[in-house]
Amino acid sequence: MDTLRLDTSYISIQQAGEIIRDGGLVAFPTETVYGLGADALNGEAVKSVYAAKGRPSDNPMIVHIAETSQLADLVSEIPAVAVKLIGEFWPGPITFVFKKMPGVPNETTGGLDTVAIRMPSNETARRLIKASDRPIAAPSANLSGKPSPTTYGDVLEDMDGRIDAVIEGEDCTVGIESTVVDLTGDVPTILRPGFVTREMLEDATGMVVEYDAALMQKPDDEDFHPKSPGMKYKHYSPKAEVRIVTGSDTSVTAKLEELRKAAIREGRATAVLDYGQDSAAAAKDFFARLRECDRDGVELILVRGLAENELGFSVMNRMLKSAGYDVVHV
Ligand code: TXA
Ligand code: MG
Repeated sequence: MDTLRLDTSYISIQQAGEIIRDGGLVAFPTETVYGLGADALNGEAVKSVYAAKGRPSDNPMIVHIAETSQLADLVSEIPAVAVKLIGEFWPGPITFVFKKMPGVPNETTGGLDTVAIRMPSNETARRLIKASDRPIAAPSANLSGKPSPTTYGDVLEDMDGRIDAVIEGEDCTVGIESTVVDLTGDVPTILRPGFVTREMLEDATGMVVEYDAALMQKPDDEDFHPKSPGMKYKHYSPKAEVRIVTGSDTSVTAKLEELRKAAIREGRATAVLDYGQDSAAAAKDFFARLRECDRDGVELILVRGLAENELGFSVMNRMLKSAGYDVVHV
């Protein structure tokens, strides 16, 4: 299939909306990462998203909306805490898990009785959702297992020829996927950390917000059972070996240099990713840089670890996965 390349003009967005309504697949920018969108209420369309990504079909998708009125067809119950959180953080880089309405197809929810919903702030994403007149189910627009794409070029690298269209929009400003928060239990629980942090959620609600226990574990731990099915798969891995160095600033600097020199002596093409402790800069750059390293034939990527608090915790979650939890502590 030829993948249509669309700009962000009115005509192009209308065309993209029509492709979604007709059951097709359109990749589009959001503020977090590029999404691969299909009509969330069309089970067949959603199935073809799994096929295009090469993704296991028990992994549920995030449904994207542009107006809160769209919740009516999707969600059976809106708890009081959700009203507060929606008022504070939507539109934006955060997804809430609700009890679902019966009309939401199993393909969209991976057979769960809950549904994950996000209202993105990215203007192109919002225009597309409105033009399609549908809620749009969209995982990140990468082949399963590869880093999420944060530019349209990265989408085309994986998806050219596999999907109907890509909207060639702006680079993503956040750069890591949305925070996923389960609101179906007594305590709001973060299933996937993101740009909106636990501290921000606690400030907004005045409630204790928990992390799913799996976020503190490694996938090979005995009792690793993440509530978010996507968290159990291998993720974000470039071809290169990724190694993280943590510790005090000066000892990390020295260790990175030592490891880099040793690798070069062995003739390995090596890159160092050092964002200092600027978590926002790391979030925005990390996935794009992993892909660039692959294109450049890099064999070893050395990364300065971030302090695991606030946004640093969210970005380290991705860094650790990309490294297969290979951490040198100095
Ligand atoms: O920023 C984002 O969230 C991006 C953009 C495109 O919006 N989307 C994204 O989708 O990252 P995806 O499919 O790559 O990740 C969705 C995550 C997975 O970890 C999945 O298991 C979880 O959300 N999820 C979806 N529905 C769920 C549900 N009902 N219960 C628990 N977790 C759910
Ligand atoms: Mg993904």
